[in-house]
Amino acid sequence: MSKKNYITTPIYYVNDVPHIGNAYTTIIADCFSRYNKLMGVPSFFLTGTDEHATKVAAAAHSKGLDPKDFVDSLSASFRKVWQDLDIEYDDFIRTTEPRHKDVVQAIFKQLLDQGDIYKGTYKGWYCSPCETFFLESELVDGCCPNPECRRPVQLVEEENYYFRLSAYGDRLLAYIREHPDFLMPESRKNEVVGFIKQGLKDVSITRRNTGWGIPVPGDEGMVIYVWFDALINYISAAGYLSDADRFTSLWPADLQLMGKDIFVRFHSTFWPAMLMALNLELPKHLIGHGFWTIDGEKISKSKGNAVSPAQMAQELSEKSGASPEVSRDVVRYYLARETTFGVDGDFSFDTFYGRYNSDLANDLGNLLNRTLGMLSSYNDGKLPAPCQGELRKEICDAQTAYVRGMEAFAPNQALDAVWTMINAGNKFIQDKAPWQLKKEGRKEELGSVMFSALETIRAAAIMISPFMPNTSKEILKQLGLSGRPLLWDDIICSDPFENAGEVKAQPIFPRIGGKGQAKETKPEKQAPAAEEKKEEYISIEDFAKLDLRVGKILSAERIEGADKLYKLTVDLGSETRTICAGMAPFYEADYMVGKSIVVIANLQPRKIRGVVSHGMMLAGEDENGVKFLSPEAELAPGSKIR
Ligand code: MSP
Repeated sequence: MSKKNYITTPIYYVNDVPHIGNAYTTIIADCFSRYNKLMGVPSFFLTGTDEHATKVAAAAHSKGLDPKDFVDSLSASFRKVWQDLDIEYDDFIRTTEPRHKDVVQAIFKQLLDQGDIYKGTYKGWYCSPCETFFLESELVDGCCPNPECRRPVQLVEEENYYFRLSAYGDRLLAYIREHPDFLMPESRKNEVVGFIKQGLKDVSITRRNTGWGIPVPGDEGMVIYVWFDALINYISAAGYLSDADRFTSLWPADLQLMGKDIFVRFHSTFWPAMLMALNLELPKHLIGHGFWTIDGEKISKSKGNAVSPAQMAQELSEKSGASPEVSRDVVRYYLARETTFGVDGDFSFDTFYGRYNSDLANDLGNLLNRTLGMLSSYNDGKLPAPCQGELRKEICDAQTAYVRGMEAFAPNQALDAVWTMINAGNKFIQDKAPWQLKKEGRKEELGSVMFSALETIRAAAIMISPFMPNTSKEILKQLGLSGRPLLWDDIICSDPFENAGEVKAQPIFPRIGGKGQAKETKPEKQAPAAEEKKEEYISIEDFAKLDLRVGKILSAERIEGADKLYKLTVDLGSETRTICAGMAPFYEADYMVGKSIVVIANLQPRKIRGVVSHGMMLAGEDENGVKFLSPEAELAPGSKIR
């Protein structure tokens, strides 16, 4: 079985539903997994729930619930949140499942047998909210040293089993040195190295059995420490000790993501040491991302500042009128784009709505709406014939920078590349002025401009698909490309719109009225682009340039060799003019004589079929044919029309 690109998130404590802080890890992991699929790389994405924490049991008891019933319902609500954020995981592991418990117990037994686990007496300070033991010297004012916690700790003295972590310090340091991309970002890697160099202590990995947790095999009065239990999920779900083929196809993990709080001590020290003890390969990359904060404070349920992704999506949808599917995508987009992966990001609804308006309503939305609007006005909504797109260099440059960003685990850089291309598309339209090309009848050039803009939109839709899957589908649908497989290698191809269905424009990102403020209006209708509006509107000075006059037809006669034309003699008051008009299919010559008409008197004279026509008579057209314009009541020939 070929190796799949295996991506994991931490498994979440189920004491509450996710806020944007912990949803972040899963969203970014999903973007990487979808990116793999887009690149044709087989991917496997694991997430799940960490259910044996003592705080979980405490939360259940405080609600008068059985812990198992409690975790069943909370684990289900996690799945629901992921579903609502379009998270496409391949497996969801729960630490209360037998497939996990069996492996944890087997590993415990193996490490005990080989001497990596031993029994001893432990005396230490335990922080229950952090599920961590601390030395007396580590405490701050007698409390938990974690700056986010600082809660009271309990002195625990009991006979326990220990994992011989102290034996792995040198091997870990050597491994980190020899594998420069193992721990990222660099700043956090340095933290890990510093932590290991201080000297690693053996870790107590059991607790007294109070009825919740995985019992120690052969010593049922104890349960296995929740972190030892939880870290094993990454291999138990991958088939370790249960499905050799599955395990070969998945392990070692390619990308393990987590927040910075659980990066140094647990994922970069304890976890690789456990794998070394089991003689298993270490994951290729461990990345510790930053925190989402609000006004500089970490977002967390306990601080009461938690904002849920569902709340963000709903508020955006209500303010803008964007569909729920697109609004969910915007949450994903914002979290991926707003901050550099690895560093902290400060959340506010203002920056959220600001990014929506500028990147989505303005840049992407504008490119899509103006292009489809013009396609409908200039080409009856029909896709232009394929040609050598004029923005191909920009598309290829974006592809290169996008891949570079994703491969460097910098999703915001990948998105920057897409937006550079989108903005090049908008500028291209501005510079090429297709409305002008249309006016001047430069059909071929117009076709090429339309094709190039559409090809860029299609490329953008494919590139954003790992981040905004619903929006990507919607854009492709509007281009008549529903149901096509999304293929990276297909971004530039000879005929991207071959056999495309009907093009249907429908604004996706209605603008929000003011910065972070409610918008009263409904989504915009298919608005013509700003430049087109400029074309539609003329200034009063422009209008004043037209010399519109009332004329009276004195005679009308056919022009030889021209089926449609009459040569009219028109009284303009101070002079008599000859004007050619294509009225023959609609009016008898006799009928026209004596009629008052509206004439553009200062139009440059033009020779038509050998006759010099000096001026133009105005007419309108609907499905019943052509009618010439006439003053509602008698006006003297030569009267100015204003
Ligand atoms: N259960 C452990 C993980 C065990 S993995 C073997 C755990 N769970 S958690 O629910 O508390 O946190 C899950 C993830 O959410 C962690 O990666 C954590 O860093 C992340 N975040 C929690 N709050 C966060 C922010 N405010 N911002 C960004 N990520 C944060 O730890």
